[in-house]
Amino acid sequence: MNKRLEEIFKTRKIIFEDLKVNLNSNVDIEEGEFISKIIKSINPKKTLEIGCAQGISSLFICDALNGAAHHTILDPNQTSEWQCVGIRNLKHAGYSNFDLIEKGSEIGLPELLDKNVKFDLIFIDGWHTFDHTLVDMFYSIKLLNIGGILIVDDVGMRGVRKAVNYFYNFPNINFFGSTGKLKKTRSRMIFDFLKQSLKPFVFLTGNRIASEIFNPDIRHRNTKLEASMVALKKISDEQVPWNWFKEF
Ligand SMILES: C[S@@+](CC[C@H](N)C(=O)[O-])C[C@H]1O[C@@H](n2cnc3c(N)ncnc32)[C@H](O)[C@@H]1O
Repeated sequence: MNKRLEEIFKTRKIIFEDLKVNLNSNVDIEEGEFISKIIKSINPKKTLEIGCAQGISSLFICDALNGAAHHTILDPNQTSEWQCVGIRNLKHAGYSNFDLIEKGSEIGLPELLDKNVKFDLIFIDGWHTFDHTLVDMFYSIKLLNIGGILIVDDVGMRGVRKAVNYFYNFPNINFFGSTGKLKKTRSRMIFDFLKQSLKPFVFLTGNRIASEIFNPDIRHRNTKLEASMVALKKISDEQVPWNWFKEF
């Protein structure tokens, strides 16, 4: 871990000569090291990040790239909400191999696609609703080179999780790795408990209903994705057919 990151995690503060803020909204050390390890194992030439905030994930990424690749960041609020702390952190740590596009990913991603830019690794940590994550993943998969890695943070959040489950079914997407414990909400824990306890009775309603509730594919998929951060690999440029759909 670079010195700037060490200092930030130790003090939980981000300090510049003219500004001092508390650390927030960031990936934790385990997640940062997970991203870092993947970068070191695939040696990307171009990386992309959606959602910079105070730049903690950006610091992990630029640290792992070690100047050998270019990093692009999409964040519409870096100036307006984050006082440019993320970008200032990167500069303070001595990195210059990055550029910031101050646009929402829903605008920036299709623009990158239109320019034919490709990436070897994309990290998604932007607006965590289902629709935004779906759009982020849709474009990211198109923007990745074959063999490229897509990392999604906050998979414990329902909207994010739904979107990940959907794309995980794509024939050109493979599971690559995961880290962090899935933080289940209280209502989710109660729901899971009730589902397990009622299992014998649900089968009395007939196999069709029961198999929809306890679909083994979904169970299997969820077990693999039970983490706070998930990495997926794009294994081909194959498009799903126009009428493709798989329950997720
Ligand atoms: C959870 S924070 C990112 C934390 C950061 N990855 C880190 O580990 O330090 C979410 C970020 O997404 C940004 N964001 C919000 N809406 C967005 C959008 N439409 N497109 C891209 N980023 C967005 C926010 O400004 C914020 O910086």
